[in-house]
Amino acid sequence: PLVPTGELVERAAAERAAVAAFNVITLEHIEAVVAGAESAGASVVLQVSENAVKFRQGRLLPLARAAVAAAEHAAVPVALHLDHVQSDDLLHQAADAGFSSVMYDAARLPYDRNLAATRAAADWAHGQGLWIEAELGQVGGKAGQPALDAHAPGARTDPAEARAYIADSGVDALAVAIGSTHAMTTRTATLDHGLLERLSSTLDVPLVLHGSSGVPDDELAAAVAGGIAKVNVGTALNIAMTDAIRAFLADHPDAVDSRTYLKAGREAMARAVTGIITTLARRRPA
Ligand code: G3H
Ligand code: ZN
Repeated sequence: PLVPTGELVERAAAERAAVAAFNVITLEHIEAVVAGAESAGASVVLQVSENAVKFRQGRLLPLARAAVAAAEHAAVPVALHLDHVQSDDLLHQAADAGFSSVMYDAARLPYDRNLAATRAAADWAHGQGLWIEAELGQVGGKAGQPALDAHAPGARTDPAEARAYIADSGVDALAVAIGSTHAMTTRTATLDHGLLERLSSTLDVPLVLHGSSGVPDDELAAAVAGGIAKVNVGTALNIAMTDAIRAFLADHPDAVDSRTYLKAGREAMARAVTGIITTLARRRPA
């Protein structure tokens, strides 16, 4: 069934667990995430980023409608989240398209402008009954933005500043910069667990980890134990899909039916989803 994102994340936070949120780009991504979550017997968040909407030629509804239908028919609770929204136009489409939550991304802006833009977005979102996540500090590796050292002093989320930011903006959850970077194709990120501990004891909203594809299993499990309640994963699904399709086509050089290789890609993504959810359920290093 389709359920509100806030419900899943708040429940995870209360149980010191985490819900996995996967970025979907194609119908195969949606089907794979739902199948993978069903295999794990866990709730899941399907998220559509502003970049994915750009890939879908600027149209949100085709993918959103597919995600709503998949969620409604799923055997586990599934929530829909609009991710990394920078454009107010897209933000304003969220509720009508079936999303219960948005991540409004003004992290590239200086503090005062980030706060002002996020407060306006939060006021609007709450007026629509939407749950809203925002980012303070900078999780680098975003498409179209300058590269950033995840361990540069200014990149990290400062606990005292984050406390004021949440109080003044009214957001429901915070994406924190603790050492992860978006779009990593190796799992070599190291997280600052001391900072996560300070953030989680200072802040009273659920914390979100972005760029989780680059974070090793033990680090992910430790992050959940340390207070991360929503774990965003995108690149890992694309790696699983593309590797499987590449291998399939190498083995079947005469293949022409797109269903054959898409099926291989979809199954590999579903296995990746189940694997990540299982890792999060460990909550601490083995
Ligand atoms: O918001 C999306 C996530 O932060 C995905 O990051 O593609 O590096 O896993 P990732
Ligand atoms: Zn992200």
